[in-house]
Amino acid sequence: MAEAVTAADGPIAVTGSSGYIGSWIVQDLAEQGYTVRACVRDVTQTDKVDHLLAMNDSDLPGQVELASGDLFNPGSYDDAFKDCSAVLHAGATVGYNRETPQEVYDGCFTEVEHVLESAIRGGALKRFVFTSSFAAVGHPRPEGYVFTESDWCGDNLEGYRGAWTEDNIPKNRDIAYAMAKARAERMMYEMAEKDGSFDAMAILPLHVIGPLMCANHDQGWSWQNCMKFMWLGKEYKKSRGGRMLWNNVDVRDVGRAHRLCAESTNAKNGSRYILSASDPTGELFTWQMQAKMRELFPDIAEVGGEEMDGTEPAEHTYDSPRSYCTLAIDELGLETYSIDETIKATGNSYIKLGLVPG
Ligand SMILES: NC(=O)c1ccc[n+]([C@@H]2O[C@H](COP(=O)([O-])OP(=O)(O)OC[C@H]3O[C@@H](n4cnc5c(N)ncnc54)[C@H](OP(=O)(O)O)[C@@H]3O)[C@@H](O)[C@H]2O)c1
Repeated sequence: MAEAVTAADGPIAVTGSSGYIGSWIVQDLAEQGYTVRACVRDVTQTDKVDHLLAMNDSDLPGQVELASGDLFNPGSYDDAFKDCSAVLHAGATVGYNRETPQEVYDGCFTEVEHVLESAIRGGALKRFVFTSSFAAVGHPRPEGYVFTESDWCGDNLEGYRGAWTEDNIPKNRDIAYAMAKARAERMMYEMAEKDGSFDAMAILPLHVIGPLMCANHDQGWSWQNCMKFMWLGKEYKKSRGGRMLWNNVDVRDVGRAHRLCAESTNAKNGSRYILSASDPTGELFTWQMQAKMRELFPDIAEVGGEEMDGTEPAEHTYDSPRSYCTLAIDELGLETYSIDETIKATGNSYIKLGLVPG
């Protein structure tokens, strides 16, 4: 097992630093005194990087340096990763930029190998932490089943009624995404095992919500963006009738968990950590989310969401996915925000950005 990382070991690089999760990874590292190589595709794109540069003006003990790199350009991270003790790989083609399912698959799996190769070429790598997803965990199970880190998305394939095939990668974004994340995890654990000089581990977030640092974090169809529309009084449109079980985790907790993984003496090669609700209070059906959003923001005239029949939901919601971030709490020492703190901070950041009327 490779050694755990400290701020004295040199810089840490974060890919996808302009993104919602990446930005909070950078902020947490800067708070803990790290020199952070914040990797973005275009360092001149002010709407995506100004909030990162502003961290250097806020008396944090660490330092943020912008660096460039593109997943589809092998070797482009070589400079950014030089002498880095850890690479936290949060950059991905999630589909928000209207990527095709094949591009989602390639950005989340095929191209990850050369990101890892660049990290190894950096010459000081001890930890490679990959932002995987709960998509690499979930698979068809009866209602109420509690998923853990030992579940993999390829389990119980018959539940997909034949859809879980290679042929469907270019046709179905969700299959492309889940398969890619799971394969990337397996590939990097194997590479680390063979190499022996570093450990690879993964963070598996579920529904990530919490404060946005800039308007660019309001990506269409992200969970936070869906909440914005609910605060604007609109129906929740990502699932039929707005019915869904939201298994929420705070973006600040997701960011911090990446650093804790790099620093942990408990985490080892192949360790994976689900980042979801810490207990059932963070698991809410849409109509319950809606009620909480209304309660915490009483000045907002109307909060939209699920199809209702009077005061009751119009139909039953399939009770899944249930899962708790207990392992991250136990092994990494993660302390989590309460659901009220998270929803409040999400709404306040939307109001501050002028995207939801205050
Ligand atoms: N949000 C969630 O609920 C959730 C749940 C599970 C897993 N995740 C995972 O968390 C990670 C971050 O997601 P997010 O929610 O923070 O999304 P996001 O805000 O869209 O961030 C994605 C980041 O990836 C970068 N990126 C996209 N294409 C790239 C490319 N070709 N080369 C280099 N960088 C590229 C983006 O850069 P640009 O700014 O240049 O576009 C952005 O910084 C992803 O791996 C995602 O799969 C997220």
